[in-house]
Amino acid sequence: MIESRLVRITEVGPRDGLQNESGIVPATEKIALVDALGKAGFPEIEVTSFVSPRWVPQLADAAEVMAGIERRPGTVYSVLCPNEKGVERALAADAGKISIFTAASESFCQRNLNATIEESIERFRPVVDAARAASLPLRGYVSCVVECPYEGLITPEQVGETVRRLLALTDGDIEIALGETLGVADPDQIEQLLEEVEIDVPISEIDLHLHDTRGRALSCVARALECGIRAFDSSCAGLGGCPYAPGASGNLATEALLEFLHANEWATGVDRAAVLEAAAIANRITGRDSGG
Ligand code: HMG
Ligand code: MG
Repeated sequence: MIESRLVRITEVGPRDGLQNESGIVPATEKIALVDALGKAGFPEIEVTSFVSPRWVPQLADAAEVMAGIERRPGTVYSVLCPNEKGVERALAADAGKISIFTAASESFCQRNLNATIEESIERFRPVVDAARAASLPLRGYVSCVVECPYEGLITPEQVGETVRRLLALTDGDIEIALGETLGVADPDQIEQLLEEVEIDVPISEIDLHLHDTRGRALSCVARALECGIRAFDSSCAGLGGCPYAPGASGNLATEALLEFLHANEWATGVDRAAVLEAAAIANRITGRDSGG
């Protein structure tokens, strides 16, 4: 059998990046960033979140952004939803995929969603029902898969438990995205994590969402590829962070991920030159050159 050399990249900069800016980025700038990323040919761009504007004021304009972006065929425009109100707003905005999000750490879940892990799963029930009724695919994030800013190290077994709750909620019809929220993992930790999660989910269907605080994300990617992972999240210009994960820096930069993958003969279908143009817009928006 010929091994597939295709890797699927979800660009999460507009959501994971811009949720974390201290100032409010105008919707027009967000739309310009998403449209620039659209030209690169990503299979999926995570555009924004339909969360409480009290909690994340940076994304209060989610509906306006979704209404303003150009939708390119072949690209799924996904959004985060924490609850029923979120999914109602997401459906009204014609989202292409619904991502729910919880954690392997109780303390992080409490800070991020004001809920226990179990309560967060209960809140997702109407979200799952609505997404299904609209025939939209689902993603389920599990945050803090290696370490939590409040509880320290998290075991692979804790992650496995949350993954199983998401699978039970959806009869297994959900893409599992493992969030290394703090960006501190080393390749051995990633391998141990994947060994546990692949008990319940085929490895080629797991998505890895890496932040890059300690600069080891690419070595984690290399190990994850050896383990059989074929889907990664990344963020142009290395934008990213989580308002409820102090100390965490940006996501793995898309430019760096593409350079690494293409140099190692992995195909992505993503045009790196177009990503560099989008990264220039991201740098203009943030006023930083994050050097992705
Ligand atoms: P709560 O305060 O317990 O909920 O927050 P509530 O139901 O009492 O709502 C509070 C107010 O928000 C109310 O408004 C609601 O109507 C409103 P008020 O009556 O006070 O005017 N509200 C909403 N408005 C719009 N859309 C909604 C919505 N829901 C409530 N969907 C809640 C609970 C879940 C809402 C809150 O905790 C929340 O929004 N959390 C989101 C936090 C977040 O977005 N974190 C970042 C994303 S996760 C992440 O970055 C990690 C990831 O990248 C992976 C990784 O790296 O690990 C994915
Ligand atoms: Mg993240």
